[in-house]
Amino acid sequence: MSSDARAVDSAERASAPQPLSGRRVCLGVTGSISAYKSVEAARRLEDAGAIVDVAMTPSAARFIPPLTYRSLVKGEVAADLWDPAAPAEQHVAMGRRADAMLVAPASATTIAKLAQGIGDNPVTLTALASSAPLVVAPAMDAVMFAQPSVQANLELLKARGAFIAGPAIGRLASGGQGLGRLLEPIELAAAVRSAIGRSVGDLRSRHIIVTAGGTREPIDPVRFVGNHSSGKMGVAVAEAARDQGAAVTLITTQPPPQGRYGIVVREVQTALEMQAEIQQAARGAHALVMAAAVADYRPAEAAESKLKKQDADQDGMTLELIENPDVVASIDAPKLLKVGFAAETDDLIANAQSKIAKKGLAFIVANDVSQSDAGFQVDTNRVVILDADGGIERLPLLHKYDVGAAILDRLRRLPSWA
Ligand code: C5P
Repeated sequence: MSSDARAVDSAERASAPQPLSGRRVCLGVTGSISAYKSVEAARRLEDAGAIVDVAMTPSAARFIPPLTYRSLVKGEVAADLWDPAAPAEQHVAMGRRADAMLVAPASATTIAKLAQGIGDNPVTLTALASSAPLVVAPAMDAVMFAQPSVQANLELLKARGAFIAGPAIGRLASGGQGLGRLLEPIELAAAVRSAIGRSVGDLRSRHIIVTAGGTREPIDPVRFVGNHSSGKMGVAVAEAARDQGAAVTLITTQPPPQGRYGIVVREVQTALEMQAEIQQAARGAHALVMAAAVADYRPAEAAESKLKKQDADQDGMTLELIENPDVVASIDAPKLLKVGFAAETDDLIANAQSKIAKKGLAFIVANDVSQSDAGFQVDTNRVVILDADGGIERLPLLHKYDVGAAILDRLRRLPSWA
């Protein structure tokens, strides 16, 4: 392989995390105009490394021809129980080999059949033949969704361990706005990742708090002291923890990320707000991954109304800054394992190392933010993990998701994790 080809190959590897690698997902499609979104969901699942089989009800096949899925997915498509060309007992094989089954869109009728154990079409039969986690994504008119019968059926499924994904509030095919819209494909794929994590992931029954983004310290109602952190690293850690089955609280200064199914998001602005949210979430949590870029200083006073040019004196304006607490060091939770990040531009190792003891960290993840393919804003990162005993682990250029997975792996290997 030429060095150019290797460079492209390594960049591709770094940019394509495969959280569902080696997993088989059965997508059950029922009759709803929103079935078109399941086509995109199938693609997203396969992009994440899964092989997708598709089971369709007869009415689903009226909305989307089975050929669409046959052309798209690596797995099989079961659309007709009586098709002489289909493998015998196809639904049994599909149900057995599934690591998760996602019924999206799930109509009221299919929800009722799933709750009652009726198997009369490829979707309901495959669900009966499967012991994999079941994700049900309802899609219907808001009045239909609110029916006590539909709600009772969903409750029954939930009580038996099914994951109910959505619906969302929004524009409905039946007209108007309401609660009944199928979740977007990115959320459907996230729900599958969450369900598989909760059933077999290494972080089941653990609670992990992750912080993300740069804090915004107000100067006045429209201006703030901030930094370039995009929050991508923290979101990637939160996703990786969710995919491994942890309960995840993401405390972020950024808008809630897409694909956040299974992640509890708390929005904050300032270092002090972040500190209060972490302290509240910390009870019973196992780890805190502090990927946020916390401002070391904040304006001594935030003006109540917008500062005007004439407020400045002749030599310009002087802003008085006071020190923020060191948030990660200040969190009071004896059993909480803390992981810090160190974004440095020089003397990476020495600067990062000095922070481990000072901040009470289990280890620190250092990255050189002066590089263009690592650090702030980009999807990739090249980090060094330093521990309290002087251990140094250099990771290659990786997608931030894979950096997140490596950090979690490291946490699980700590003697104090057991
Ligand atoms: O800014 P510094 O390099 O010291 O940040 C190292 C780690 O400490 C990061 O994990 C950051 O989130 C955290 N930090 C903090 N409170 C601060 C400053 C940084 O928790 N005031």
